Amino acid sequence: MTLLSVENLKTYYSTSSGFVKAVDGVSFNLEKGESLGLAGESGCGKSTLGFSLMRLIKGGEVVGGDIKLNGMPLLEMSDREFNRIRWEKISLISQAAMGALNPVYRIGTQIVEAIKVHTKTKKSEAWERAEDLLRQVEIDPSRAFNYPHELSGGMRQRAMIAMALALDPDLIIADEPTTALDVVTQVQVLKLLRALQRKLDVSIILISHDLSILGQACDRVIIMYAGKIAEIGNVEVLFKNPLHPYTQALLDSFPDIKGDKKPLTGLPGSPPDLLDPPSGCRLHPRCPEARNICQETEPQIIDVSSNHSVACHMVDQGG
Ligand SMILES: Nc1ncnc2c1ncn2[C@@H]1O[C@H](COP(=O)(O)OP(=O)(O)O)[C@@H](O)[C@H]1O
Ligand SMILES: [Mg+2]
Repeated sequence: MTLLSVENLKTYYSTSSGFVKAVDGVSFNLEKGESLGLAGESGCGKSTLGFSLMRLIKGGEVVGGDIKLNGMPLLEMSDREFNRIRWEKISLISQAAMGALNPVYRIGTQIVEAIKVHTKTKKSEAWERAEDLLRQVEIDPSRAFNYPHELSGGMRQRAMIAMALALDPDLIIADEPTTALDVVTQVQVLKLLRALQRKLDVSIILISHDLSILGQACDRVIIMYAGKIAEIGNVEVLFKNPLHPYTQALLDSFPDIKGDKKPLTGLPGSPPDLLDPPSGCRLHPRCPEARNICQETEPQIIDVSSNHSVACHMVDQGG
């Protein structure tokens, strides 16, 4: 069953030099209980896409497209209507828990307040729920009385997960939830997130610049480049048979055993300025396989199988 459908979404930032086309015509569906990854180098529009779904864009706006959650058109709701579903239906785990958690309140108090603002739960019941949530994210409930700075980085991210789960949402958007953590803690937090996602049958959009992370925690992955979808597919298919040169470069740049990040092999340069993106295929200036058509015409996304689609002229024209 489809939980979320995103149709031709465009989110632009307005700057003195013009519009930054950070998300520029993105369409996809998300099934109930599915874990969908969103990958791409920094600056490709991943956070803008995630924040668009939460209606939390600052300095810009959604200028086109359609977002439906359980058939409800999110972009047509008033702020008041949307505030009711934010956290209750869609919640967010952001990159830096320290920024998202309020430093002057105890962890438990913050979870309790989140519950009380949205539901008519009694304080004692909300405390019980908060303690239960902490247990679920493997934090000893006695930690409810701690302030955020008294917790380790990994614990803070797990407390964020508890907050995001507090109102039993249908969809969690997790934007680089483990990027600030050391490698060992990253793996622990991801495993926990994946286990809870499965147990609670909640859908998740997991955003990361690191494809290897998404390979461990997702059913399907979207590869995003310069505000557009380059490739989308089932994890096994995408990792075994990546068709887009950009996906191939991302897969080649997996960290080595020591965890050091290799630069993108075969792809010089960095993602373009989205104020004035390249013509045709936006990857063409960096792509080793680019031909004339790539400079001239934008590739449309085509289905290569029921669970694999790609936007690349090389595939479109049979390689
Ligand atoms: N408030 C803003 N004003 C102008 N440009 C922005 C703003 N926020 C992000 N951008 C630009 O939008 C593009 C996409 O950014 P972002 O969504 O943060 O990408 P990612 O999460 O993939 O790193 C980048 O080029 C970035 O510079
Ligand atoms: Mg980001």
